[in-house]
Amino acid sequence: MSRATASGQVRQILDMNAFRPGDTDAEAVERRLANLGAASVLFYREPIEMVSAEGAWMTAKDGTRYLDFYNNVPSVGHSHPRVVEAVSRQIAQLNTNTRYIVSVVDDYLEALKAHMPDSLSNVVMTCSGSEANDLAMRVAMAATGGTGFIVTETAYHGNTALVTEASPSALKRGSLPETVIAIPPPSVQHSGEDIAGGFRRSVEMALAEFARRGITPAALMADSIFSSDGIFADPPGFLSEAVDAIRAAGALFIADEVQPGFGRTGDAFWGFGRHGITPDMVTMGKPMGNGFPMAGMAVRPDHLEQFCADVGYFNTFGGNPVAAAAGKAVLDVIRDEGLQENARDTGALLLEGLRDVARADARVADVRGAGLFIGVDLAEEETGRPDPDLTVKVIDGMRSRGVLIGAAGRYGATLKVRPPLCLKREEAEQFVEAFKGALS
Ligand SMILES: Cc1ncc(COP(=O)(O)O)c(C=O)c1O
Repeated sequence: MSRATASGQVRQILDMNAFRPGDTDAEAVERRLANLGAASVLFYREPIEMVSAEGAWMTAKDGTRYLDFYNNVPSVGHSHPRVVEAVSRQIAQLNTNTRYIVSVVDDYLEALKAHMPDSLSNVVMTCSGSEANDLAMRVAMAATGGTGFIVTETAYHGNTALVTEASPSALKRGSLPETVIAIPPPSVQHSGEDIAGGFRRSVEMALAEFARRGITPAALMADSIFSSDGIFADPPGFLSEAVDAIRAAGALFIADEVQPGFGRTGDAFWGFGRHGITPDMVTMGKPMGNGFPMAGMAVRPDHLEQFCADVGYFNTFGGNPVAAAAGKAVLDVIRDEGLQENARDTGALLLEGLRDVARADARVADVRGAGLFIGVDLAEEETGRPDPDLTVKVIDGMRSRGVLIGAAGRYGATLKVRPPLCLKREEAEQFVEAFKGALS
């Protein structure tokens, strides 16, 4: 994912703090590189070999325990016993595809749809968020007759050919195709205080540009908490004007919930729920199976019919009974353990703790977010400019204090704070202490 620094220099955000050949000659690293080759990206100059994980903690081969604030997949907690049990039981009994009726699959889909707007009553199951977004883009094209997509300038929506073209942050070189326009994220920097109006105007300008290019728009596709753009959550409701604008142009709104979905923002089960809008399609993945690879797209039946009239869709592993068992266990745990409420309450505590640090240290330029999804901007003290080098230093400093964390944003200078939803108060406090230590 490329990022321009304040001086305009392009940085690769993962590479900024990734292992590079020569950094270490550890045998396990050599073995990994020999196996995965050029596509391999290992976190940290000194990569960590992990052996187990539980709750919010990961354990390395050397016995070091790390508090995991990096990874939003094991959202209900690493190796949650109820997910482990559900997957183990189902795989020992039956695993097949959606061409047979297996009740656990429909049980799951009904439980999932209980969290969805009524209009999105069909769900197509896939194995990855990329597949879900690929399908959503194709459905949007079939439903509108358009080919134009509006995304935000540092968005990441996945890795298929179609979705990569709509993921500006994935492009290391070259430019977006004519059919994709990237607009600034809904930030104060771009819109001032009128975030809703500013974002709507950006969408309208992109629509005008499509008209000039002779391209019919198909959809605005947005991660409703703008994760890779640097996390923009407030004020709740700001998305609705942009959604009105895209619909007025005959196009659709795709809510990419791969990051904010499943209770993470605390206020609502889905990120779009904070904005009082009903998307035309919702895509989801990562935390859906707590690590079991599963994803999906919720859609209006009429839109899916338009797509299926022209082309078939089958996904061998998508929505199989083991995925359904994992997904159902995740929903049950979120409900039974009050994890959305915990995201709201522990998230508020964490936000306040981080804001205290910001008040005392000018290099912590902004702290924003919702629930357990928080962005922390790091900047140069004198100039206030985004500071990716300080960010790398803080990421490394936190690792040495036993905390795993990554970065996002246009300049790679926003810490992406995204722990499991089962985070305890004392773990939030431990994070804040490690952050202060890493800044010192
Ligand atoms: C917002 C968003 N959408 C889609 C994807 C793609 O999901 P997957 O990696 O499961 O294909 C990602 C992955 O990071 C993502 O962050």
